[in-house]
Formats: sequence, C-alpha cells, structure tokens
Amino acid sequence: MPRKSTRLRTADLTDRVAVITGAGSGIGRELALLCARRGANLALCDINDIGLADTAATAHSFGGRIVTRRVDVADSEAMSRFAQETVDLYGAVDLLINNAGVGLVGGFLDTSVKDWDWLVGINLMGVVHGCNAFLPTMIDAGRPGHVVNLSSAAGLLANPQLTAYSATKFAVLGLSEALSMELAPHRIGVTAVCPGVINTAITQNSAIRGDGDAEQRRNRLMSTYQKRGYPPERVAHNILRAVDRNQSVAPIAPEAHLMYLLSRAAPPLAHWAATRLAELTK
Ligand SMILES: NC(=O)c1ccc[n+]([C@@H]2O[C@H](COP(=O)([O-])OP(=O)(O)OC[C@H]3O[C@@H](n4cnc5c(N)ncnc54)[C@H](O)[C@@H]3O)[C@@H](O)[C@H]2O)c1
Repeated sequence: MPRKSTRLRTADLTDRVAVITGAGSGIGRELALLCARRGANLALCDINDIGLADTAATAHSFGGRIVTRRVDVADSEAMSRFAQETVDLYGAVDLLINNAGVGLVGGFLDTSVKDWDWLVGINLMGVVHGCNAFLPTMIDAGRPGHVVNLSSAAGLLANPQLTAYSATKFAVLGLSEALSMELAPHRIGVTAVCPGVINTAITQNSAIRGDGDAEQRRNRLMSTYQKRGYPPERVAHNILRAVDRNQSVAPIAPEAHLMYLLSRAAPPLAHWAATRLAELTK
C-alpha cells in the first residue's frame, strides 16, 4: 500500500489548486506562472486588473484552469467571497500564497496613522484574511497543504527607514511561525518567505515619506533594486523549493540569508548593518 504523503510536493502540481494574492505583478505573477507550468489550477486575485489579466493570459498557455478576481486583501468580506467562489469551482485548495503587499519608506515620525492603517490592512490583515478565509476548507479536506506568507528581510532585521513596513513583516513572520506549529497536526505546512532585494514594481508602488525629494529618493531606490538585479522568477522557484522542504522560514536572496544569520546569531552586528542599510533609502 502506498504511504500517505505527509506534505505537499511541488515538483508536479497537476490537479492541485493554488491560490495567489497580488498575482498581477512581481513575485505573485511569477509564482502563478510557475504553478501553472507545474500543472496547477489557479485562483488569482489583485487590485491591479490589467496586471492580473496579463498574468492569467500568460498562464493560460500551460493548460490549467484559472479563475481571477479583483479582491482587495484588506477587505475580509471580499476575501471570504473569493474563497467561497474558489471552493465552489475547484472543491479544494492545496496551496495558499498570501503574497499581496505594499511598501512604505520612512521612519516612525514620518508615518501617519492613515499610513499605518493602509499598510497594516494589506501587509498583515491581508495575510490574516487569506488564512481565515481559506484554512477551514484546507483543514476539512484532510489532505497535505501549505500556506506561504510573504514576510521580508525587513521582518528579520528592523530597518529605521522602513519602520511601519518592518513592523508588519515581523508580525507576518511571528504569525507564520505560530501557525506552522498549530497546523502541523493537520498536515498543513507554513512558510514565511524573506526575499531580500528583488527587482519588482514594489519600488514604484511604495509610498515615500519624510524629508527630501520623494521622486529622487524613489529613483535611487529603483536604481538600487535594478542594479541588485535579483529576478522574481528565481524567488518563485526558491519559494516552491522551500514549500517542498517544509521550511518554516525561507530567506531567498543571499542578503536575506545573511540577515537571517545575523539576526539570530549576532544581534549587535545586525543592528549595525540595519542602520547602514537605512542610509541607502534616506
Ligand atoms: N520586491 C522585494 O524586494 C520584496 C522584498 C521583501 C518582501 N517583498 C514582499 O513580496 C510581496 C510581493 O511583492 P513584489 O515585490 O512582487 O511587489 P509588486 O508591487 O511587484 O507586486 C505586489 C502585487 O500586490 C498587489 N496588491 C497591492 N495591494 C493589494 C491589495 N490591497 N489587495 C490585493 N492585491 C494587492 C499589487 O497590485 C501588485 O500586483 C509583498 O508582500 C512584498 O512586501 C518584496
């Protein structure tokens, strides 16, 4: 008799169902394409209609089924409707990727309460809403599943020019680590992903707060990310590998591995490195 698999395997996702938020750009888009290439049926959402339609059109060529919805992850009711529609269509969900997120560059004194509400609503509550909407079905299905939550290297090492962003990403990391212990008996793994500096549209989409010309600072940020040149396609591959290995924390680019190591093994050195890094975004 074949052994009952205890975790989700990602090399072949034929007939599996992957839900990906923020699939209209960057890491979410590449995850959608990679899952489609490996045979998965997809449920994709974003608030960027054009990006979402473009991802779906490209993913169609791999032959799986695809449903797309305009959903704001900060809206818990919209997420619940999305989950219901996904389950009505596919009957189950195997892989939930809470990827949608936004950036905000600035210190605490530069960040308004409105900014906090916006950032926490998407980066933290978006993950909570995704888990809340999809987990009951995943648990009831009784088969191996996985949840991927996008944290950040700024969720490992606090950055004084990314104060609110760091706070949301630390929260996602903590939520994911606790959830991974809670869901283990249900054969559902949880991975918090800490990508590093990845060349996506996040630099265009981030809010910039504080002194100095915002556009000049944005251009510097975009140029740093472009020069670093780590592509979202590689992130997607590494994320599916981390799922396969059931890693609870997955640093992706080398700088994220370094920050992970420093934050765990040498906090004073980590503090020094974070302060130097923040100078780059001022
Ligand atoms: N690019 C990086 O260097 C980097 C580093 C660390 C973490 N991350 C995280 O990775 C995730 C993906 O980022 P990315 O770099 O691909 O950025 P991106 O801007 O290219 O893509 C993010 C997508 O999320 C969507 N989105 C934003 N708000 C949304 C909302 N309220 N509801 C639904 N969708 C929404 C956007 O429209 C966009 O399509 C984010 O959570 C981000 O914080 C990125």
